[in-house]
Amino acid sequence: METLAKLTRFGLFDARVPRYTSYPTAPHFGPAVTGRALCDWISAIPAGSSISLYLHIPFCRRLCFFCACRTQGTSSDAPVRAYVATLKSEIALVKARLAPGVTLSRLHWGGGTPTLIPADLMRELSAALLDAAPLGKGAEFSVEIDPNEIDDARLDALAEAGMTRASIGVQDFDPEIQRLIGREQSYELTRSVIERLRVRGIRSLSTDILYGLPSQTTGRIAESVQKLLSLSPDRVALYGYAHVPWMSRRQLMIPTDLVPRAEERLQLFEVARDLLAWDGYRQVGIDHFARPDDGLAVAQAVGRLRRNFQGYTDDTAPVLIGLGASAISRFPQGYAQNAATTSDHVKAIRAGHFSTARGHVFAGEDLLRARIIEALMCDFRVSRAELSRFDVAPERLQALFDAAAQAFPGMLDLDASGLAIRPEARPLTRMIARAFDAYDQSNLPHSAAF
Ligand SMILES: C[S@@+](CC[C@H](N)C(=O)[O-])C[C@H]1O[C@@H](n2cnc3c(N)ncnc32)[C@H](O)[C@@H]1O
Ligand code: SF4
Repeated sequence: METLAKLTRFGLFDARVPRYTSYPTAPHFGPAVTGRALCDWISAIPAGSSISLYLHIPFCRRLCFFCACRTQGTSSDAPVRAYVATLKSEIALVKARLAPGVTLSRLHWGGGTPTLIPADLMRELSAALLDAAPLGKGAEFSVEIDPNEIDDARLDALAEAGMTRASIGVQDFDPEIQRLIGREQSYELTRSVIERLRVRGIRSLSTDILYGLPSQTTGRIAESVQKLLSLSPDRVALYGYAHVPWMSRRQLMIPTDLVPRAEERLQLFEVARDLLAWDGYRQVGIDHFARPDDGLAVAQAVGRLRRNFQGYTDDTAPVLIGLGASAISRFPQGYAQNAATTSDHVKAIRAGHFSTARGHVFAGEDLLRARIIEALMCDFRVSRAELSRFDVAPERLQALFDAAAQAFPGMLDLDASGLAIRPEARPLTRMIARAFDAYDQSNLPHSAAF
């Protein structure tokens, strides 16, 4: 109980703390990066290298109350068709600048709901993408799948296009919770989609579930996780529900007084985590679980786990190009983000240029701090030896570590090899990572600005 009080005091589950899928985080991007820079960065990708692509589809058939993703509802296919035509033009802009022989290490379709794209357009889109850069050896092609918004024709189109991994949104199986979060989806439907994916040879299945949902209890989450285990996914993302109605107006539909408090959230997480562990899943980073032979678990075991805009990944490609409205690209030089609104994005692409609106050019200690934050988020520790490649003076590194240890007394182990988060302090990982964030020092316990 004392530990819990301490964790809570340090900001446990504070929804304002970033998830650190990039550093600096997107709110700190500025106007310095333009479409010109993006063109130069794409042209600088060496011939024959391996890159990753992310494709963003900002549409959904229904808007679930709980969802904090940037997406818009549409009941007709017309806006989706127009958007896919724009994506094909954007792919052509990338292709025109890519050196010969570039292949894909990862291709991910996310959203929103990529599975609302009609089957014929899925085929056209994947053909355009793979024509610009084919899948390389051992590549993964993953798609976020909403079981309510998929049918056999679209499953066939994705399987034929070469999809290797499906990421299935579940959230929770409890009917009352589903009603409260505006996301009704029966167990039978989820099971049927998983079976139909497996029949098509998609062996690698990932599922998203949430803890901290309204009216969720330890008994209810235990039942949901057990149902999930009966489907035997390879990976489980166990995200903490972020209740941020001031950012996501849809969440006003969810009564705040039914949302569990910090200590209840921790219990919900622990019940789900223990059930997954008992079933043989390895915990990967702060919120993922994977079968021991799954790529993520293997990457974590050998210290190759990474974090990017899609969360945890075993992808080591140095470049990730984001296509579509609001998508973010990462290059060795920095980040570039497309126009946030679909209309601004479409307007720019139709005018024949990228829609890049914001970004960040790496400078100063950015890459050092980015790696410290990534290592903490992935491995809960960071080694001094590994950081030597950033040409940082040992005294400077010590000062950064000392400031974090001072801000989180009793939570960190600091020795000659590096800095580690104690197991009992792992629920604070994002808060501790923030101690290394030079752009966001707003809510640190004590003053850890340095
Ligand atoms: C971008 S959504 C796409 C999934 C797909 N449209 C579906 O509904 O199945 C990806 C995941 O983000 C997670 N997510 C969305 N809103 C969230 C929130 N407020 N807090 C935590 N996770 C959230 C959900 O688990 C969801 O499955
Ligand atoms: S959870 Fe999926 S379907 Fe629901 S609003 Fe979010 S992106 Fe759309």
